[in-house]
Amino acid sequence: MHEREVSRRTFLASSAAGAAFAAMPLMGAAARRRLKIALIGCGGRGTGATANCLEAGKTLGTEVRVVAVADVFEARARRAGERFGVAPERWFHGFSAYRNVLETEADIVLLATPPNFRPVHLEAAVNAAKHVFMEKPVAVDPPGVRRIIAAGETAKQKGLSIVAGTQRRHQGTYLRNAFLAAHGVIGEIVAANVYWCGGRLWYKPRLPNEPDALYMVRNWVSFTEMSGDHIVEQHVHNLDVANWFIGRPPVAALGFGGRARRKTGDQYDFFSIDYDYGDGVHVHSMCRQINRCYNAVREFFIGTEGTMWGGGKIQPTLEKDIAAPKIEVHANPYVEEHRALLRSVIQGEPVNESRNVAESTLTGIMGRISAYTGQLVRWSDCISNPKGRWYSLALKPTADDFEKGPVVAPPDDVVALPGAS
Ligand SMILES: NC(=O)c1ccc[n+]([C@@H]2O[C@H](COP(=O)([O-])OP(=O)(O)OC[C@H]3O[C@@H](n4cnc5c(N)ncnc54)[C@H](O)[C@@H]3O)[C@@H](O)[C@H]2O)c1
Repeated sequence: MHEREVSRRTFLASSAAGAAFAAMPLMGAAARRRLKIALIGCGGRGTGATANCLEAGKTLGTEVRVVAVADVFEARARRAGERFGVAPERWFHGFSAYRNVLETEADIVLLATPPNFRPVHLEAAVNAAKHVFMEKPVAVDPPGVRRIIAAGETAKQKGLSIVAGTQRRHQGTYLRNAFLAAHGVIGEIVAANVYWCGGRLWYKPRLPNEPDALYMVRNWVSFTEMSGDHIVEQHVHNLDVANWFIGRPPVAALGFGGRARRKTGDQYDFFSIDYDYGDGVHVHSMCRQINRCYNAVREFFIGTEGTMWGGGKIQPTLEKDIAAPKIEVHANPYVEEHRALLRSVIQGEPVNESRNVAESTLTGIMGRISAYTGQLVRWSDCISNPKGRWYSLALKPTADDFEKGPVVAPPDDVVALPGAS
């Protein structure tokens, strides 16, 4: 039996959720503290996260100012710089622009590039003693996941905070159900179904004479080497809820997938994975990105004494007197993430979500490797056994290749073939 810590105190201490349950307004000098933030990756989510952080500061009565921005593309850095009132000499661009940002006086950096860059950027941010907000997922391969975990441990030693963009962990309905699940409202969880079945994301055809590196950056949700594939990039949210509610990551993954509709890159369109969590607990995951199909984004848990939707209805089979504590969170979980981060920095009480998001990222990666190869993929062979088949699987081009070159894009429309090796 895996040991599960379910006391109220340990539940609260185990995540930034604790801050939500105990949400105290910031008072006096704490509220007057000014914080400087900087953004690396000025796309849709990066600029969205920056706006969320500014909003979070307002709700806490704390002044937050953007002092630097960085993007591969000059125009995107400029647009973000203008929007957030950053001095033009702090609009950095290029694949090394993150280094310029980390040399500024920013207290907090927001990492919102495609996920293949996250391990390098997190390591550099922690080395520069910055607090971090980083978007999910946080890697595309097992070595990247291990780098995130290591950087997260260094951050702990340095007293730095890291909050991840797995926003369900900051959402009231999920926090309530996670608490009740941990306190046995549906008994022991023995199975779950997690889904992200939706339409396709955007894709960008190659421009005439476009360098491979820029094509891959512009079209990153089409390339496994950039995104991890959509089981990692998007479905990580639901896999994260499974790991959170069950209280541990899976020990193995076995599944399949395929490609029917995509036009560029090398990703699959759909995956169906059985995750083995040990002790007879299994989670079935399905994700699909094809238009004009039935859509479902949710998590369903089956316990020995009832069932529960991730952030929804609970149907216990036994009457139990378990009350969740009052949860005080912002209505928008994207803002709440930043409230947790700002509060932790101001109060000097670090939160660190790096391991949770690293484990959820690896959960998706394991499913992808299994579908691509047709093999059973064990957690240990990715994380703890250096002789494991997948331990050193590093997707190319790597983040370093983008910075130092050369970058050769994988051919469009050539995909992994299970059983090929
Ligand atoms: N939590 C959520 O709900 C949520 C929602 C959307 C996206 N995301 C995540 O946020 C991240 C960004 O997604 P997006 O939708 O904003 O993508 P996007 O394409 O809109 O933006 C990414 C930006 O990063 C820039 N960039 C790429 N490589 C860079 C590098 N090495 N250095 C500096 N800039 C670089 C790109 O030029 C682009 O402007 C992804 O990890 C994605 O999975 C999370």
